[in-house]
Amino acid sequence: MILSIESSCDDSSIAVTNTETLELVYHKKISQELQHSVYGGVVPELAARLHIEALPKILEECVQYFPKLKAIAVTTAPGLSVTLMEGVTMAKALSISLDLPLISVNHLKGHIYSLFIEKEEVLPMTILLVSGGHTQIIEANSLNDMKLIASTMDDSFGESFDKVSKMLGLGYPGGPVVQEYALKGNENRFELPVPLRQSPNIEFSYSGLKNAVRLTIEKCVNEDGIVSDQDKYDICASFQKTAIAHIMQKTKKLFKQKAPVNFSIVGGASANTYLRSQIEDLCKKNGTTLYLSQLKYCSDNAAMIGRVAVEQYKQKEFTKLDDIDVKSRLKGF
Ligand code: KG4
Ligand code: ZN
Repeated sequence: MILSIESSCDDSSIAVTNTETLELVYHKKISQELQHSVYGGVVPELAARLHIEALPKILEECVQYFPKLKAIAVTTAPGLSVTLMEGVTMAKALSISLDLPLISVNHLKGHIYSLFIEKEEVLPMTILLVSGGHTQIIEANSLNDMKLIASTMDDSFGESFDKVSKMLGLGYPGGPVVQEYALKGNENRFELPVPLRQSPNIEFSYSGLKNAVRLTIEKCVNEDGIVSDQDKYDICASFQKTAIAHIMQKTKKLFKQKAPVNFSIVGGASANTYLRSQIEDLCKKNGTTLYLSQLKYCSDNAAMIGRVAVEQYKQKEFTKLDDIDVKSRLKGF
């Protein structure tokens, strides 16, 4: 079995995965969303302090598996440096005390392998990764052959939901609440600009749309300084429609060049049902097989880190204790 630790942002999570059967023997995650919600986003130092409390609590429940462990895996990049450090410190301590090798796991590979939890991997695959930190299209041929095809020039897809939510005073994380508000709104009420519509390139940008939403909100503020609930619903619906129109325009472009055999959406924002249904339609029209993670594995978790670690373990991809390091801004894989 492999014990895996995830602490790249605001989720403290530990999993135990069987290396032969791929069974997820243990999995727990403690989210910090409530504690960060008042600030409208993740506060790194607070997140690190909360990991210090949560990770050891979860680890206590895993002691029974210690005799069966063959390696300790941990997310080392990308993410917030102060929070990654908490997971890496725990992994190092476990590696020394249990005399086990260390496996350094890339968080983005983790999101991709969330598709294969308790399942065999299906590769090659074209992947749309949409999270709080990333908006990318990746061509994944194998564990160690992943190519970045497109990414965002500024904000990410999930982040834009978080920022709209913050501007409307709806708390953090923004994705689920903006999606819920959008259900009650008129998506055609506000005309917002679809980013990079005229650009022939396959790339993403969300900062312009965010500013357009900010201006729209300012126009909706009444004499009492309040934006009505109906205005909030309509803003969320119009924003969500536009944000997804942008993703779909670029993804269609990609499919036009060459429709992939296997396609998937991963990352926290892949839980968005509006996005899922449009991608489902696109794949159906192109004869592409669509793979989706279970909703519980879309956002950050240690089960996906453990699943990558099983593949790295099979390939004997270990990292020496002195070499394991946090690479918070790592680009690529
Ligand atoms: O993958 P994740 O848990 O953390 C990162 O690696 O960033 O993704 C979290 C992001 C947040 O920005 C959150 O607002 C967004 O995913 N998200 C959504 C939805 N659910 C979560 N965005 C849009 N629609 C959703 N339903
Ligand atoms: Zn993530």
